[in-house]
Amino acid sequence: MNRTAALVPAAGRGERLGPGEPKALREIAGVPILIYAVSALASARSIDLVVVAAPQSDVESVTALLSQQSFSDKVSVVAGGDTRQESVARALIALPTDVDVVLVHDAARPLVPIELISAVVGSVRAGNPAVVPGLCVTDTIKEVNEHGDVLATIDRDPLRAIQTPQGFDRELLQRAHAELDESQGIFTDDAGLIEEMGVPVKVIEGHVEAMKITRPFDLAIAETIIAKRRASGVIT
Ligand code: C5P
Repeated sequence: MNRTAALVPAAGRGERLGPGEPKALREIAGVPILIYAVSALASARSIDLVVVAAPQSDVESVTALLSQQSFSDKVSVVAGGDTRQESVARALIALPTDVDVVLVHDAARPLVPIELISAVVGSVRAGNPAVVPGLCVTDTIKEVNEHGDVLATIDRDPLRAIQTPQGFDRELLQRAHAELDESQGIFTDDAGLIEEMGVPVKVIEGHVEAMKITRPFDLAIAETIIAKRRASGVIT
């Protein structure tokens, strides 16, 4: 049987959110960010198992937290690394051999809709070895120098703001992580590694609710989305 796994890098400190617990353990509307993200993945029929890369100092508490959830039988926890790339690599090593498609989803995107998860899996299973969700860019984008002087205005039409989950053929993603380390540059997503190998990456339509929690303002937006979902009877 060919199974699909989701890896959740959740080991970041989240310093741009201000002082406090690691980002994945901060709460929105009374629930830790990580629980929303893992719940969405574990609830997707297209996902068979979830591996969470937790902050090294919080592996026990994250394991205990996840073990209390209704979806706990689908989830395991590993210790994350010093960078996102290392956290993903550590989760990848923990996968069973019968997994052939892997999604990587940032814990920092807790409200990802299940339809987006399924669309990414579907696109990989349809033959695209690397798939990422993306949204058109709405702001005008300018390149500046270190003094804040504008160097150029970039044509935004061909630009996309890339989200997660990103989906991959497992063997390809494993090869990318084995061949490329941080001496070849800092990759802020997994598709970046695949591009570096010269393999095509497909962009599908993303979703505004797959937004990333980075700054305190993002928490307020997420709370609004959760309130809207609860009011319409959607459990998040
Ligand atoms: O820092 P940034 O928001 O780009 O992090 C994206 C994701 O990578 C977050 O879910 C974060 O928890 C994770 N991460 C990680 N290990 C690190 C740094 C970040 O798993 N060392």
